[in-house]
Amino acid sequence: MDCRSRLRSRSAVTEQPGRDESAAAAAPAVQAVTIESFLAELAVFRAAASESLTGVTDGAGLEQARIEFLGARSGRLKAIQKLLSGLASADRPAGGRHFNEAKGAVTALFAALQDTLSGAAAGSTSAADAIDVTLPGAPVRLGHVHPITQTIRRVQEIMARLGFESVDGPEVEDQWHNFEALAIPAEHPARDPLDNFYLAVARGADPLLLRSQTSTVQIRVMENRRPPLRIVSLGRVYRPDTADATHYPMFHQVEGLLIEPGTTMAHLKSVLRQLASSFLGGDVHVRFRPSFFPFTEPSVEFDMEWGGRWIEMGGAGMVDPAVLTAVGYDPDEVSGFAFGLGIERIAARRYGVADIRDFYRNDVRFLRQF
Ligand code: FA5
Repeated sequence: MDCRSRLRSRSAVTEQPGRDESAAAAAPAVQAVTIESFLAELAVFRAAASESLTGVTDGAGLEQARIEFLGARSGRLKAIQKLLSGLASADRPAGGRHFNEAKGAVTALFAALQDTLSGAAAGSTSAADAIDVTLPGAPVRLGHVHPITQTIRRVQEIMARLGFESVDGPEVEDQWHNFEALAIPAEHPARDPLDNFYLAVARGADPLLLRSQTSTVQIRVMENRRPPLRIVSLGRVYRPDTADATHYPMFHQVEGLLIEPGTTMAHLKSVLRQLASSFLGGDVHVRFRPSFFPFTEPSVEFDMEWGGRWIEMGGAGMVDPAVLTAVGYDPDEVSGFAFGLGIERIAARRYGVADIRDFYRNDVRFLRQF
């Protein structure tokens, strides 16, 4: 049913109040509407509005539907409102009630959809504002592993390829492992309290100290295992040395120990050369100088060339038979070599750092470079 056609005929009546009989007779008569057909009109209106809104996806579509259904001038609801006056006067109150109810329901449908659409639009606007995918990403500042730790890991890796297993030992040591088992007797100057960090212990208890070398781990491993052995131990050691470009009171050493029948100095030298060239590059120059350590015989110092000078990197030698005996090995059956290098010194050589104190100043401008 076309409601608008009835609207037009009704308008002619209402827009001319107070006209005389003849004028009224000339104007089209108000079309009578039954309550049933009025209610049917309302039902159709509600269903059509609801169906129309299901296809609306944006504000423009919603506005178009609003004009069609709720438009003040020529909307479909307006047309139905005009039918009210065609109802018999007894039906008008009920018709008005149903009309208001339908109007409220459809208006609510529009309002709800309006809210949904504007919420989605606001959401997409703020998301668009928050992320501009065309901008370069903000860099995340990550820290990284300290150059000394990097050096430790690299040395462990190289030595693992040569078959050396990494082991740990305690930093607080007793005199047996730090000195006696390493053939450093009680009167030896290396045990002087001024050259070590002894700990305060209960009266009568065995003296303890912060280990002054990682050679302690050689002893601990040999005490607990049988040959053949290939181990490295990397860790902190402590000496009351005055800090300078090549010394620090706390530093790190890498200790290597190989115990196998038939081991000679040639094996020691080739392992140290291999470690140096793998860590620093094939062009590194190394040299071995005769030296003395109580726990190796013969003993050497291991130097590397740097900037036209030779820098001492560590000590090494064939494990002294007295040490093998102290841990219960038979020196006639097994032999081996050991070495101990300063990690800070080989790290300085690798990274071109002139002063090892820089590793511990904790200046991120320095540390960030590695
Ligand atoms: C020793 O400590 C022996 N245990 C090495 C050894 C092991 C010899 C096994 C034979 C067999 P030495 O005191 O020379 O040796 O120290 C070894 C290395 O540690 C030095 O060459 C140096 O590179 C480093 N070093 C020594 N003192 C310091 C220090 N205060 N600061 C930084 N590095 C140091």
